[in-house]
Amino acid sequence: MAAALFSWIVMCILTSRPITTAHYGVNFDGTHIYHLQWDSVMHSLYTNNEKWFRATQVIQSIVAVLTIPLASAVCSKAVVTFVQQHSQRNLSLRQAITLADRGWTDPAMYLKLVFGGFKQYGSRLLIIAILLNILGTDLPSYRDSQTLMIPGGIISPLQSFFMTTKTIKTPTFATTVPFTTDILDQFTNSVDSNLITVMARSAMAAQGNHSPQGRLWTGKAIKCSESLDKSNFVPLPLNCLMPTMTFGNMSLLPDPFLAELPSGYSTGLVQQYSLRINSTARRDIIDESEFPINCDTLPGAFYVKYAGRNPSLFTTSGWDNWSFVACIPTNLTQSPWRPVRSRQDFTEELYLNISLIPDRPVHMSETPEKQGGFFKISVDTTAGYFELPNYMNGQQPGPLLDKDPMEHCGGACTDQAFRKAHGPSNSEVPRRAVREDSSVITNSSLSLEKRPNRGPLLTTTLALFGSGSFIAERMTRPKAFTYPNRTREEARRGPNNGACVGQVPFLGLLHSRLDYPQNDNMLDPCLTNQVQTHDYEQRQLATYVRSMYWNTEDGYKGGRIANAFTSAAFLANEAWLQYTTKTKTWSVSYDHGADTAVPAMSQTGIVTVSVLMGLFLASLAALAVYSARSPRWADQLDAFAMLRIGASLAGDVQFRAAADVRRIRALDRLPGWIGDATGGEGALGELALGGPGLLDGQRKFAAYVVDGDDRVKV
Ligand SMILES: *[C@@H]1O[C@H](CO)[C@@H](O)[C@H](O)[C@H]1NC(C)=O
Ligand SMILES: *[C@@H]1O[C@H](CO)[C@@H](O)[C@H](O)[C@H]1NC(C)=O
Ligand SMILES: *[C@@H]1O[C@H](CO)[C@@H](O)[C@H](O)[C@H]1NC(C)=O
Ligand SMILES: *[C@@H]1O[C@H](CO)[C@@H](O)[C@H](O)[C@H]1NC(C)=O
Ligand SMILES: *[C@@H]1O[C@H](CO)[C@@H](O)[C@H](O)[C@H]1NC(C)=O
Ligand SMILES: *[C@@H]1O[C@H](CO)[C@@H](O)[C@H](O)[C@H]1NC(C)=O
Ligand SMILES: *[C@@H]1O[C@H](CO)[C@@H](O)[C@H](O)[C@H]1NC(C)=O
Ligand SMILES: *[C@@H]1O[C@H](CO)[C@@H](O)[C@H](O)[C@H]1NC(C)=O
Repeated sequence: MAAALFSWIVMCILTSRPITTAHYGVNFDGTHIYHLQWDSVMHSLYTNNEKWFRATQVIQSIVAVLTIPLASAVCSKAVVTFVQQHSQRNLSLRQAITLADRGWTDPAMYLKLVFGGFKQYGSRLLIIAILLNILGTDLPSYRDSQTLMIPGGIISPLQSFFMTTKTIKTPTFATTVPFTTDILDQFTNSVDSNLITVMARSAMAAQGNHSPQGRLWTGKAIKCSESLDKSNFVPLPLNCLMPTMTFGNMSLLPDPFLAELPSGYSTGLVQQYSLRINSTARRDIIDESEFPINCDTLPGAFYVKYAGRNPSLFTTSGWDNWSFVACIPTNLTQSPWRPVRSRQDFTEELYLNISLIPDRPVHMSETPEKQGGFFKISVDTTAGYFELPNYMNGQQPGPLLDKDPMEHCGGACTDQAFRKAHGPSNSEVPRRAVREDSSVITNSSLSLEKRPNRGPLLTTTLALFGSGSFIAERMTRPKAFTYPNRTREEARRGPNNGACVGQVPFLGLLHSRLDYPQNDNMLDPCLTNQVQTHDYEQRQLATYVRSMYWNTEDGYKGGRIANAFTSAAFLANEAWLQYTTKTKTWSVSYDHGADTAVPAMSQTGIVTVSVLMGLFLASLAALAVYSARSPRWADQLDAFAMLRIGASLAGDVQFRAAADVRRIRALDRLPGWIGDATGGEGALGELALGGPGLLDGQRKFAAYVVDGDDRVKV
């Protein structure tokens, strides 16, 4: 019984925590020097715990094997007490024989009792014994780690129903990725010699809409199987067909964001956080009146203007005058980023004034919209921290947090920060000294180039239209990009005619969702070596300018353009995270753990089985006490006891063949109760079936001669 209780209790404890240490998961207990504590010794705690589990299983199987014999033996002992109880005077001999036969172990007896034989065979003790045996047949035993082997009984099938073995991960050794970006890092000694712009520009030239983006995360998993069910005939969402996340259509992605570690990076048993940034671009068509006035003289603003004259894009003959004005009218000497780990949101706005005006009236069939207009590109940016995927959160990235994650770093989390969260406020953050006169910016982006921590839209704008950009280079050094000594004929005959010589940044991002180039765009997919003349170059620039408001895929609607600016902002943010600072201090620890087997059981299961087991063990204990309490005339109602009873019934029971025991009426008529034949009178008691007196522990009874004494106390 003790073994049964012990193994059950250990099993219940193991479902929720290990015996050898306090938690199955990781617990840093407030200490941050976890690396030193975590070693193989640590993991041995869990291996030892598994030993406990195995030992418990062994004990349970032993208990399971012993339970029936034990319960039956206890019942047998109780029978002797039972048949001499005063309350059992009406017990028939047949009922007593049934008890002596251990009728509770005989399924045939169950049938007899159910089908009308209860009066003949049944007695109160028999019922109790049967219940006890049904209830207690077995305690759980494990054949192997996955299945439970429990024959018969009620407790055991219940246990097997409720209890399973599951494999969980337990801590082994925490490894640290030491140098990832803390947003606070970006504000200490950060230098930007325009490298971020150049990196973003290169990325914008290299990336297309089909390029897998390893750092593009999605907050929620895309459920492709669901959409497969719902849309039998509709094509699958694009992202279900993609091996990884791409820029194809960012609005299709559920909560897309940038984080420094590769998408889906799991920290296993450790709870860790990381910086995330998501930027979303919009493109609106605006009125001329909404365009900022005097942008070229606004202090701290970004302003560029390019204009030229080119062979018409829209007609085969004639000329277009093109002009392009870009303006960010805010004071850009102030960084939009704040040095806080809590959530921050900001918006940047870029205004474009584009015109492509033919110098003669356009034919009716040509849409006047192709000639430009006023546009506003708005990029909303949100930055904050999120919980990296781990075993606790179902390997899914957590939501964007409003607060500094280190403020609620729990037991399974290590402090990842090196810098104090409440550092200098934004205004106190040291900045690169800005020359006095450069705060008044006119037609140049130059003074913004060495400013650290620009917003993603400003970086994108500098990359696309600032100095060194595709358009600026061709405007300032037109001759460098033409091949004037090569006649058209020579070029056509040349072996490398039409070979690519470069890619225009941003045009790859303007591709269709499936990354098809714009077929009416001479810059897409690459710049070729066919540029002979200044006019041709101007045409390239007009095409470039036009692609800022018109797209082959969706025309003037701006959907592709907004998507391209969203993607560009992503690349700008990625460059910012990578290159702003040399001293990165945010560490990320991970431990993918080792497999450990533990029992698993629901709360209901634990309660149900515990109640039943308690009932069983209590009844067994009660029966044992009951049988030990009173004086007993024999140890068990065994064959020898029945033999002795038989001897006293020579008149009624003979040693003959019995064809149908059930019909021998004498068995029902004769009493099965053992009493004192003398009725308590005289010095010496006499055992007798149906004797009128109670067996009395004080009295001596006639007995077999042992050591010369023929009288014993019962
Ligand atoms: C025994 O049976 C008789 C009659 O059958 C009944 O009157 C009596 O109450 C019974 N006694 C007990 C203890 O059951
Ligand atoms: C622009 O911002 C900087 C930094 O905050 C500030 O020093 C400057 O006075 C601002 N200029 C204007 C015109 O607001
Ligand atoms: C837009 O650009 C055109 C051509 O350069 C110019 O004539 C016009 O004044 C500009 N409009 C605004 C509001 O700046
Ligand atoms: C285009 O520019 C040329 C020269 O710069 C000028 O002569 C012509 O009038 C302009 N055409 C239009 C429609 O503005
Ligand atoms: C960034 O993601 C968060 C969380 O999903 C969302 O609340 C926020 O609006 C997003 N911001 C932008 C600019 O898309
Ligand atoms: C800026 O404009 C002035 C005239 O307004 C011109 O002299 C100067 O060269 C321009 N600078 C650049 C970098 O375009
Ligand atoms: C191009 O031609 C000019 C004269 O027509 C000549 O001076 C120059 O060297 C040539 N350049 C190249 C690169 O051949
Ligand atoms: C992106 O997908 C959304 C939703 O399916 C759609 O409305 C939108 O037009 C798509 N945008 C682009 C640029 O393909």
